[in-house]
Amino acid sequence: MCGIVALIGSREAAPQLLEGLRQLEYRGYDSAGIATVEALPNGGGAPEGRLHCLKAEGKLLNLTARWEEQGAAGHCGIGHTRWATHGKPEERNAHPHLDGSGQLAVVQNGIIENHRSLRELLQAEGVMFRSDTDTEVIPHLLARRLDALEKEGHLIDAALLLRAVQEVLPLLHGAYALAVVWAKAPGALVVARRQAPLLIGLGEGEFLCASDTPALAGFTRTILPMEDGEVALLTPLGIELYNATGERVQRNPSLLTGTEHVADKRSFRHFMLKEIHEQPETAALWVARHLPEGALVALPLDEAVYCGVERIQILACGTSRHAAQVGAYLLEQVAGVPTTVFYASEFRYAPPPLSPHMLTIGVTQSGETADTLAALTMEQQRRQRHGDPAYAPRMLGITNRPESSLGRLVSHILDIGAGIEVGVAATKTFMGQLLAFYGLALAFAERRAAAGLRQPGLPDHGRLMALVAQLRELPALLQALVEDHDRRCAELAHLFTDTQDVIFLGRGINYPIAMEGALKLKEISYIHAEGYPAGEMKHGPIALLDARVPVVSIAVPGTVFDKVLSNAQEAKARDARLIGVAPACPDTELFDTLLPLPIVDELLSPLLTVIPMQLLSYHIAAHRGLDVDQPRNLAKSVTVE
Ligand code: F6R
Repeated sequence: MCGIVALIGSREAAPQLLEGLRQLEYRGYDSAGIATVEALPNGGGAPEGRLHCLKAEGKLLNLTARWEEQGAAGHCGIGHTRWATHGKPEERNAHPHLDGSGQLAVVQNGIIENHRSLRELLQAEGVMFRSDTDTEVIPHLLARRLDALEKEGHLIDAALLLRAVQEVLPLLHGAYALAVVWAKAPGALVVARRQAPLLIGLGEGEFLCASDTPALAGFTRTILPMEDGEVALLTPLGIELYNATGERVQRNPSLLTGTEHVADKRSFRHFMLKEIHEQPETAALWVARHLPEGALVALPLDEAVYCGVERIQILACGTSRHAAQVGAYLLEQVAGVPTTVFYASEFRYAPPPLSPHMLTIGVTQSGETADTLAALTMEQQRRQRHGDPAYAPRMLGITNRPESSLGRLVSHILDIGAGIEVGVAATKTFMGQLLAFYGLALAFAERRAAAGLRQPGLPDHGRLMALVAQLRELPALLQALVEDHDRRCAELAHLFTDTQDVIFLGRGINYPIAMEGALKLKEISYIHAEGYPAGEMKHGPIALLDARVPVVSIAVPGTVFDKVLSNAQEAKARDARLIGVAPACPDTELFDTLLPLPIVDELLSPLLTVIPMQLLSYHIAAHRGLDVDQPRNLAKSVTVE
């Protein structure tokens, strides 16, 4: 949600800012802007500069076109790509925001929670606001502080800008990352973060700061992730880093490794399609890392994660929550650990009574989802306050971004290692999350069996070994399935040209996959869709069915196969067009269209059934000519509550 880039060095800043924004555009794309500071010849006096600010509504292309017409000179600048929170996606609400004199510019990610009271204070002092955003209070506050410092006789330089930022930050409530430039200090860039990501990239004689790694990967591999509360002054000569109390901090930079930070569409039409096709690779990496020969499973987690756990609660949003629901099924039905899944956005305001020996799992591919982080923080704090060691927080994060805010919040992390996902609709990270839960369920099952806690009716060691053997085959199965269903779903998409509603049905372990199918379709095709447990249809939703409402039914052999087929028959009797995600066999001949699946253990079936869900949504949206990778109103990482 929103992307920030900021640069200072010896080259023209604007082209690099625009390239950085291009890499971050998937994080927000309703408007964008840059501000640069051009140093002016000053005849030996204090350095002076001219601030250039360009903004454009809509995609980055519009901003680039504006820059090509008007230019924006200077070796120092800031840029922003926006996902609207406060104020409509219009040019006047696009960042950067300026102070009244037009000499100071700010970009911000996050939310300034007390912006209303600050705005009222500033307005009472005569400040005129040009936007509806929360961010605009910051340049006005900074300008007033700088004015006051100048009047006190302080030298106008980079240090003064740093000081003003340090003095204004305590006035701001909320979670944010920001970058500031000032025409009167053309060789200075000040950046700060509180509970929102910001990383500094160290180039040769230049520094690039960004809210996410893709903007940095093409620039440098040497990075310095900023920590909470830190403020940095960047000049062409170096970085000065300060903690929240204003003390100077020294920290060594780290290296970005691998290619997973580079966003590259290869020959695919959309990132989403590329990422769907990368799932066999996601699975192959996971198998290689976590299913070593001769063992059931090997996860890089401390024993403290498992030891004495009696219950598990999982907090997540959206697609991550669907992965968590499959995970809960596995943790209960494979390992026998009672598990509850919560919407993170609801948990914080209605937490369940505390239970002892609880493992809390936060699932978020981005590691930055504000709802999930806030719910985890709340849970951590109330458990810390409790005092009884049985209630102490034990927190595990499942994420694709171990370096994210989640990584800093919880003490244990399971990295799904899916590589950067650019398509806003999560696909390969969902696969990675599912696999993480298979690993966890196997690991808990193994430990509980060793402790004599195996419950009757749960899979025995032989079945667990058979599951692991099938998991090893998963990459090859996925490869064949993705290729086959890509073609089949492309052919099917034209049937949905006038469709307005679709129902997805599943039961048991595939109920969350039906919900995921519906979510994917809604997100990228804007078709109304509902995911339902198939047995619930007759309790109401069946009233929606007629010949215009296709029903996608997930039916895999196992505990509920016959039941799902009967539910599909009920839909067929109401003239619904039936699409079956099921094995090809006489039982499944009732479907008007079959998206055939190989038969695997029912417990593993979600890893396969999700593929046609993703491809069907993708092809329906692409067939409608929609912007699959950047659907309207969405953002890749939702960093506001
Ligand atoms: C769906 C999607 C969203 C996210 C949700 C949580 O395709 O992308 O529903 O799953 O916003 O995001 P993370 O996993 O980053 O916490």
